[in-house]
Amino acid sequence: MPLLLRAQLLLFLISLSSWMGLSRYIEDNEPSDGLYSLLSLEQKRESEDFIFRRPLRCLDMLATEGLFTFVASQPQLACAAFVIAEPSEVISLELFDVNIDCNAGDFIKMFDGWVLKGEKFPSNLDHPLPMHQRYTDYCSSTAAGASSRSAQNVAMVFFRIHSHDSGFTLNVKKLHNPFPCNIMSQSPEGSFTMVMPHQRRNCSFSIIYPVEIRLTELSLGQARSNELVPQRQVWSGCSGSGDYVELLGGNGVDTSHMSPVADLCFSHSGLAQMKIGCDNSVVRLVSSGNYINRVSFQYRLLERSELPKTQENSLDNFCSVE
Ligand SMILES: *[C@@H]1O[C@H](CO)[C@@H](O)[C@H](O)[C@H]1NC(C)=O
Repeated sequence: MPLLLRAQLLLFLISLSSWMGLSRYIEDNEPSDGLYSLLSLEQKRESEDFIFRRPLRCLDMLATEGLFTFVASQPQLACAAFVIAEPSEVISLELFDVNIDCNAGDFIKMFDGWVLKGEKFPSNLDHPLPMHQRYTDYCSSTAAGASSRSAQNVAMVFFRIHSHDSGFTLNVKKLHNPFPCNIMSQSPEGSFTMVMPHQRRNCSFSIIYPVEIRLTELSLGQARSNELVPQRQVWSGCSGSGDYVELLGGNGVDTSHMSPVADLCFSHSGLAQMKIGCDNSVVRLVSSGNYINRVSFQYRLLERSELPKTQENSLDNFCSVE
């Protein structure tokens, strides 16, 4: 893992923990180099046939495949492991060697997505499953051992364990996803192309950093190959077109609670560049299913000096830097 990515993952974990209000927990419970050693451990996974193993922490971030074992050294009542894969992957989670007491209030729940500050990604509107089907509760699942497969590149596990020496092992695997739709970026800089081929679906690419986003290609409303190409329409705003790209900014991860920063519905290239000074910046492709839509963009972290000067409580105009 390159040093930059490592530093970014660390930053990511720290920002996650502060989002969860758990930073004090980390400070109190981990040696000061704890997070660094965690990330360097992640680096040791080199070859494909080597099964990576390490202990799971009460607050953890997993970016590799492997076996992660949690053993409670004291009652741990609010633990969460965030799992993230590459944009073009989904995550398979499997529990085994589970030794917990469901009747005493212990639990392990897997979630198809992330929950941060009470908000969910992907939002209820964008995920293919209803909310209750996105949770897999080990204690109420009938099958021996529970497993879960995510619909996007993020998933998580919540757990509460009261008794000393109780625990479980989590097996994390990544599977290829040929049509990634909702995506959480692993880092505050990069580039991505989102393609939506003839599906009535909305897809969000979420970057939980303040970033500058530059659209490099936007192709909307292309007719099916066996249809006549329609005349380029000129819309006033994007509402009439059906298919468009939204840039959203906000301080939570639920895209349905975020504020629109810009709507883009014209197919041309090298068009938009925008700074979004929020905790979460999203590129969202809204598709009617009539067309093949394609949007490419690049993004980079905003410098401290580029962030909005006044941190108002009101969300109005909070996200637009310029
Ligand atoms: C996609 O988003 C648009 C605008 O928010 C909404 O009208 C439409 O119903 C959504 N489509 C799906 C499949 O959820």
